Amino acid sequence: MRTKPIGIFDSGIGGLTVVKEIMRQLPGEDIVYFGDTARVPYGTKSKETVIRFSIENILFLLKQNVKLICIACNTASSVALPVIRNHFRVPLVGVISPGAREAVYATQNKRIGVIGTSATIKSMAYEFEIKSLEPKAVVKSQACPLFVPFVEEGWLAGGIIEGVALKYLKPLKESHIDTLILGCTHYPLLKPVIKKVIGKDVVLIDSAKQVAIEIKKILTLENLLNTQHKGRQKFYVSDNPAWFKSMARKFLGQGIKEISRITV
Ligand code: DGL
Repeated sequence: MRTKPIGIFDSGIGGLTVVKEIMRQLPGEDIVYFGDTARVPYGTKSKETVIRFSIENILFLLKQNVKLICIACNTASSVALPVIRNHFRVPLVGVISPGAREAVYATQNKRIGVIGTSATIKSMAYEFEIKSLEPKAVVKSQACPLFVPFVEEGWLAGGIIEGVALKYLKPLKESHIDTLILGCTHYPLLKPVIKKVIGKDVVLIDSAKQVAIEIKKILTLENLLNTQHKGRQKFYVSDNPAWFKSMARKFLGQGIKEISRITV
């Protein structure tokens, strides 16, 4: 069991920000990643569709014999995980609780901002989680649907993205938040521009670090931690492997070797 890989999926490339952190904190683990590049974005789709896609992705990863599955997509974690949580025999780890926990820990004035896709914000998953941890917290949410295409185009800096960020983040800035959850796995790549617009005193929360800590905790508890060798990574996508490979360096800080296209 211990030598089985960790399965991770996202609607596309964004989950690589979580892969990067898992590789850093759990260097002995093998990873199988699935990016659903044929069906991205999930953030604009209905709840039913995101649930169906998530189940199909999980079934694919289970066929790869994984010991745990990380849903490295805020949209799928918000709308699908609460529904499917108890339906599989491997632990499922989402990105909402770890991010919410870190934000509650970080905030001083109990005013927390959340940005994400339209589906994530509509689900109110972060609000529910934050309020269950800190009932006095004030949560201000904002969907930022244009951020994902900007990241996928590699437009991470410059006047246009700054203008878009200003439009989205102004209401949060005016609400005097001191902590902002980057509730989409694409957004860590926009950290410099978000920081510039929201102000340097606002703490940016990227759940990747906490997700890796949670996975380590679960694997340790279940005696499933693999520390024996240097972990390998295998990547699968449902479309466009060449594009994914070219983008991966930006997200991971290193190139990827093994990548295949599959149909789920
Ligand atoms: N990676 C997805 C998330 O974290 C965003 C991209 C999408 O809309 O599919 O929500």
